Amino acid sequence: MKRVAVLISGRGSNLSALIAAQDGSYQIVLVISNVEGAAGLDKARAAGIATQVIPHNGKTREAFDGELDVALRGARPDIVVLAGFMRILSDGFVRGWEGKLINIHPSLLPAYKGTRVHERVIEAKEALSGASVHFVVPELDAGPVIAQATVPVHPDDTPQMLADRVLEVELKLYPEALKLLASDKVALKNGLAVFTA
Ligand code: GRF
Repeated sequence: MKRVAVLISGRGSNLSALIAAQDGSYQIVLVISNVEGAAGLDKARAAGIATQVIPHNGKTREAFDGELDVALRGARPDIVVLAGFMRILSDGFVRGWEGKLINIHPSLLPAYKGTRVHERVIEAKEALSGASVHFVVPELDAGPVIAQATVPVHPDDTPQMLADRVLEVELKLYPEALKLLASDKVALKNGLAVFTA
């Protein structure tokens, strides 16, 4: 059973889905938030999962990432999951966890990296959008994709309507992708997400 640490910054809807989906392949052993009072922390506590807050304010990126790394190493996770974690991690930190660090992004990567995803998708009049679970590499939102799910984009969609529709599939996609990684069915090899038989 793989030990999983989850990093959050806010409401933790993806965290809740990952907690509910825990099966023999993984166990969430620690939830860390960079934001004091993040609603996701209460969800972790309600599930009996250890939590820690590491505020980022007033710290350099390297100092924050260093604290985060020490906290993570202490929990001995096999996998680190970014779930609504709103910090850009330094290259050094990412390299220390490469192959064990995954994220979910609310677009069909490699399209629409970065922020304001839903606004940009609507502006471009896309017919499809969705969510992507990917390995984290130093370049933002550029890591090899593990799994994706699509949703239709309606002409009268507002960014919030689209965000809600995408979030719905995220909550199903993330647990499935985590289980693939936790059961060694996928691995990061030579910069690719390689599926083993
Ligand atoms: C979600 O849209 C997800 O795609 C992005 O962060 C947002 C909030 O996630 N990574 P959560 O509700 O905090 O899990």
